[in-house]
Amino acid sequence: MTPRKVILDCDPGQDDAVALFLAMSSPSELDILGITTVAGNVPLELTQRNARMICDIAGQSNLAVYAGCARPMQRDPITAEAIHGNTGIDGIDVFEPQTRLQEQHAVDFIIAALLAADEHSITLVATGPLTNIGTAIRQQPSILDSVEEIVLMGGTMREGGNRSPSAEFNILVDPDAADIVFKCGRPITAMGLDVSHKVLSTRKRVSRIEALGHPVAKATAGMLSFFHRHDSKKYGSEGTPLHDPCTVAYLLQPELFEFKECNVSVETESELTLGHTAVDFWHVTDRPLNCSWAYEVDADGFFELLTNRLARFANPA
Ligand code: BDR
Ligand code: CA
Repeated sequence: MTPRKVILDCDPGQDDAVALFLAMSSPSELDILGITTVAGNVPLELTQRNARMICDIAGQSNLAVYAGCARPMQRDPITAEAIHGNTGIDGIDVFEPQTRLQEQHAVDFIIAALLAADEHSITLVATGPLTNIGTAIRQQPSILDSVEEIVLMGGTMREGGNRSPSAEFNILVDPDAADIVFKCGRPITAMGLDVSHKVLSTRKRVSRIEALGHPVAKATAGMLSFFHRHDSKKYGSEGTPLHDPCTVAYLLQPELFEFKECNVSVETESELTLGHTAVDFWHVTDRPLNCSWAYEVDADGFFELLTNRLARFANPA
């Protein structure tokens, strides 16, 4: 099987970091063309540094990491240190990574990679605010011809919001970019809170990963244990939702999820419900179907996949 070409657009973030590890563990399925970073959970200078640290820990310093947009397309930044810690990936010790930061801006990289690619040949995996991708589409709409699929972590329907009563964090931070993406016309698969809130990193599941014993496993366990402190209190559940790895898990094992083709539209104006994803789950409008909306997940299967794939890092460089 030829691996699927992917660009990983992220704002690490502990859960972004685990999504990166999962993607790096799976070279026969995923060919990572680049990792593009964006301001989100923490400012850009930290998300790009964190992505490079994750490459180092995984022994994949050869991967190209790009820094992208430092702020949303039209609004002031919103960050999430209360959840992710001041570093964005509290739970592991911060260090200056060996993995180089590429000089090219992430948006320029995305545009250049897509312009050079065959039709429908690249999958964009987005686990942060959609600023880089929205900006790239606005600057050069013809890049969409090369997009096979956009797989994103964002939005919410049944679960309600996690950063405002109506909105999920990634969409709330840059609703204008999300609006561009959801209207782009290419296939979109959305992993929102409706599934990520079911993928809970309980102590038992984290212990299994930690027992693998290698640096990637220890880093994952450290980050998830930190994450746990905040979210278990917030949601009253044991274990924190592991949002972002749902995107990569879908690419590796789509049968873990159930989907419905829906229209998803993003609220960009209302002060009260800014960033709300209006998911037309019951097809009560005639808006075009623009999204495969994930609404169910096999959480045990997800952790089986994650643990088995992380086990592959037994001998990191
Ligand atoms: C999303 O927001 C961020 O805090 C996480 O990294 C994830 O991408 C969940 O709402
Ligand atoms: Ca994220």
